Amino acid sequence: MADRVIIFDTTLRDGEQTAGVALNADDKMEIALQLAKTGVDVIEAGFAASSPGDFEAVRAIARTVKGPRIATLSRCVSGDVEAAIQAMEGALDPRIHCFISSSDIHLLHQMQKDREGVLLQAVAAVRRAREAVEDVEFSPMDATRSDPRYLYQLLEAVIDAGATTVNIPDTVGYTVPQEFEEMLRGIYENVKNIHRAVVSVHCHNDLGLATANSLAAVRAGARQIEVCVNGLGERAGNASLEEVVMALKTRQDRSGVDIGVNTRELYRTSRLVSDLTGIVVQPNKAVVGLNAFRHASGIHQDAVIKLRENFEIMDPREIGHPEATKIVLTKVSGRAGLKKRLEELGYELTQEDLDRIFVRFKDLADKKTEVDDRDLEALLSDESRSADATWLLERVHVSAGDTIRPTATVRLVNKEGDRIEDAAVGDGPVDAVYKAINRIVGEPNTLSEYTVKSVTEGIDAQGEVIIRIEAGGRTYTGRGADTDIIVASAKAYMNALNRLLALRAGKAEQRIVPV
Ligand code: KIV
Ligand code: ZN
Repeated sequence: MADRVIIFDTTLRDGEQTAGVALNADDKMEIALQLAKTGVDVIEAGFAASSPGDFEAVRAIARTVKGPRIATLSRCVSGDVEAAIQAMEGALDPRIHCFISSSDIHLLHQMQKDREGVLLQAVAAVRRAREAVEDVEFSPMDATRSDPRYLYQLLEAVIDAGATTVNIPDTVGYTVPQEFEEMLRGIYENVKNIHRAVVSVHCHNDLGLATANSLAAVRAGARQIEVCVNGLGERAGNASLEEVVMALKTRQDRSGVDIGVNTRELYRTSRLVSDLTGIVVQPNKAVVGLNAFRHASGIHQDAVIKLRENFEIMDPREIGHPEATKIVLTKVSGRAGLKKRLEELGYELTQEDLDRIFVRFKDLADKKTEVDDRDLEALLSDESRSADATWLLERVHVSAGDTIRPTATVRLVNKEGDRIEDAAVGDGPVDAVYKAINRIVGEPNTLSEYTVKSVTEGIDAQGEVIIRIEAGGRTYTGRGADTDIIVASAKAYMNALNRLLALRAGKAEQRIVPV
């Protein structure tokens, strides 16, 4: 059986150190319960001595959450260790995590202590914590900038004092994968009692290398990785839970290790943490970003339709990602992508219909960043409205402003292909457009209702206009959608007029409807 790597989640401690994040006790409990569902092995629930609120949160989580071991952080000072011990009273499965700096830069310029003093402090803290709980982790802070010989000495001393896990933090995200792997090998070779402890790593992402460094450490033998959901944490954050887990799983052929995480909960966990911390996940974030399984270019879309694996190395369902392999329709999309999405929406079009829709789709995609399902529905119903039309709107142009009278010029085409252009002034731009259309169509009617709403969100959204006109005692409804609401208004009016004309001529309406 492959070795098991312990996943230690510190979202509730290092993750909470993200600038701008403050979680209350309820938020922390909710996240801890979700982390337990996700199957992480250890949850660092907080730093008991840091505040009464954190103390209570750690205590409640340690007594309530079943499954993962619950840890609390503690400096190597007796007040902290005693607070940690108290917070862990009655815990289901406790761990105390003691830390102290080991680099000369921190010793000299932060702590004003010498190496010997720090070693004694570390040993005393670990020994005291170990009197209270079976499981004690020790971290030499800023390990990657520490003198390796001192680090070996320190690790050996704390393992003798009872540390069951020794964690090697790359506190300032300084190391690079090869160097970190060599550093870990050095620890295995030079710390005599290292086999009595689990070696852990805790990588920060200042150079964007946290995940890569964590994987390099596993190659050297590390068997615990410390992570945060969505890569939260001090400064540029910590190694991200979802990246580390999916890299180990997807490339198990290279890592050779097992993990106990239920990857199907990863997306839900990411969303919950994002909602409660208010830190949004960037769309292109690996694994849990909105775009992680979306394909925009025509070439990629065509290929994933043929075989998902052409452009996907993970199955979105494995992560619980709701955007199962989504075709995103943009101006670079091709016919294959459009056809597939329309089929998924229930439309089966003839080649001729598809070609026609494709031209209109490209036109819309040029104006909008992304054409979504609601845009497609609007486009299709617009298309079916013009399929049997007596008059088609070919062009509409409006001049309006606060110092001129609104003037509209429209050009319509009839069934015979005649193009007729006319212009009119009106009380407003829509009124001017309707008057110009009336001059060409010559069908008396009264506008009884006009509404406009947005089809999608955003500044580039399509507007949909719905109108009602009255003529000869009957009411005719018209709809039109466009990124420009004046054009949408013109389309809606043409739609209503065409219905009126069709009814007069006794023609039935044809529509493209979902099958
Ligand atoms: O980054 C760090 O060194 C830490 C320690 C407290 C483990 O967060
Ligand atoms: Zn950290």
